[in-house]
Amino acid sequence: MDHEAEETAATARVRRGQALELAVESLNPAFEGVASHASLQVLVPRAFPGDRVRARVISVKPGYARALVEEVLSPSPDRVEAPCPIAGECGGCPLMPLSYEAQLAARVAVVRDALGAQGEAPPLEAEHLVRFRGKAVFPVARRGRRSLVGFYAPRSHRIVPVETCPVQGRHTNRAYAALREHLLGRLRLHAYDERKGTGLLRYLVFRESLLKGHVLVGLVTTEALDEGLGREVLALDPSIVGVVNNVNAARGNAIFGPGDRTLAGKDHVVEGALDVRFRIGLRAFYQVNPRQAERLYAEVRERVAASGARAVVDAYAGVGGIALTLARTVARVVAIEREAESVRWARSSAELNGIENVEFEEGDVAEVLPHVLERLGAGLVVPLVILDPPRQGCDPAVLEALAAAEVPSVVYISCNPETLRRDVGRLRERGYRVVHWRVADLFPHAAHVEVLAELRLNDPGLR
Ligand SMILES: C[S@@+](CC[C@H](N)C(=O)[O-])C[C@H]1O[C@@H](n2cnc3c(N)ncnc32)[C@H](O)[C@@H]1O
Repeated sequence: MDHEAEETAATARVRRGQALELAVESLNPAFEGVASHASLQVLVPRAFPGDRVRARVISVKPGYARALVEEVLSPSPDRVEAPCPIAGECGGCPLMPLSYEAQLAARVAVVRDALGAQGEAPPLEAEHLVRFRGKAVFPVARRGRRSLVGFYAPRSHRIVPVETCPVQGRHTNRAYAALREHLLGRLRLHAYDERKGTGLLRYLVFRESLLKGHVLVGLVTTEALDEGLGREVLALDPSIVGVVNNVNAARGNAIFGPGDRTLAGKDHVVEGALDVRFRIGLRAFYQVNPRQAERLYAEVRERVAASGARAVVDAYAGVGGIALTLARTVARVVAIEREAESVRWARSSAELNGIENVEFEEGDVAEVLPHVLERLGAGLVVPLVILDPPRQGCDPAVLEALAAAEVPSVVYISCNPETLRRDVGRLRERGYRVVHWRVADLFPHAAHVEVLAELRLNDPGLR
């Protein structure tokens, strides 16, 4: 039987609705348990290697099926008691029932599978496994006559009510409790009804500075709120330093609408990483785990210093976390970022820190990078390029531009091992090799992994 025929035969042996007893063997790159039944691969979210489970098949696709755990018949030795009462229901922390050592080993294994073992360095473990997040978005929704606020259940828009979330900063939890009580309990604001498109309150958003213990509150609503309400919210907790209203009346999944208005107090918080202070507005991109981001930036700085580079391009720069923490290590940094909001905060932070050798270019990396490389190359400075793209990875034109300019060193920071595998493959075809990689655990308990990989061009100048 050829492979395709085997796959079809295996698929035919499993049907939707069937209950299976499965021994989970490994985790896939999405950190779902992988088992097999009658030669068919079965993916079981929230099951871990070493578990024996009874699971119900929810879908059958060519070559694999998905099943949901109904009962853990015998648990993996790596299971621990999760530090959250709703860890099994809420979509945020699927790996919480797994020991931290096993979580970390799984993240490293996923990256090793994508990159190979060459150049592997020990992971940057998370120092804090609770109260580490600096950003939270709580959807608010109408269910019958009740208003619910919490997080979405996995792969759904069903809200799991949340009282307190152990991975969020402590001030966020306090502010969140006060807002729930005031807006939904006392004022009885109408929660948004996704199906009908009616109601007022859609999301409660929190940005917490772990450095200062300050919280910026965002209220996403279908209509503009007045400043009086902003002042009431500002007074709810001493950690709240500002209240911003974002109006989003559009149907659909986007959290934010186009405009923000500060109702009371400040429009940003100040976070710190290494020797830099960052002003961060409600919607600007900043890593959700500021302490671990700082360790990642320290690692970047070390790699850049060791390379001897005098000029650096920071592509996909966000609010300049990498660019600004490199400012005192190299002579010149050019940062490229598409979102105007992030560029605005990045420039504001440069000013706050008195940094003058970082330029911010607003635009698409695929369009801007070739010009930046040409400009820097004209001065005979071949820069080190840092890539930190979103989950989709880099446009092929970006990798093309690096190879065409014979950029000798590339530091690629990725939050998606699959697109990292693809992009590193493209760079390998162009003569690059991975010389160093290291997992930085930015997302304890979540089904995500962050990795820094350093690539060098073989024999630059001789090609
Ligand atoms: C993973 S974040 C990196 C942020 C930053 N390096 C940091 O450590 O905080 C990716 C950033 O790339 C930006 N981005 C996404 N696609 C882009 C593109 N095609 N061109 C420029 N920036 C882009 C996003 O707005 C986001 O700020």
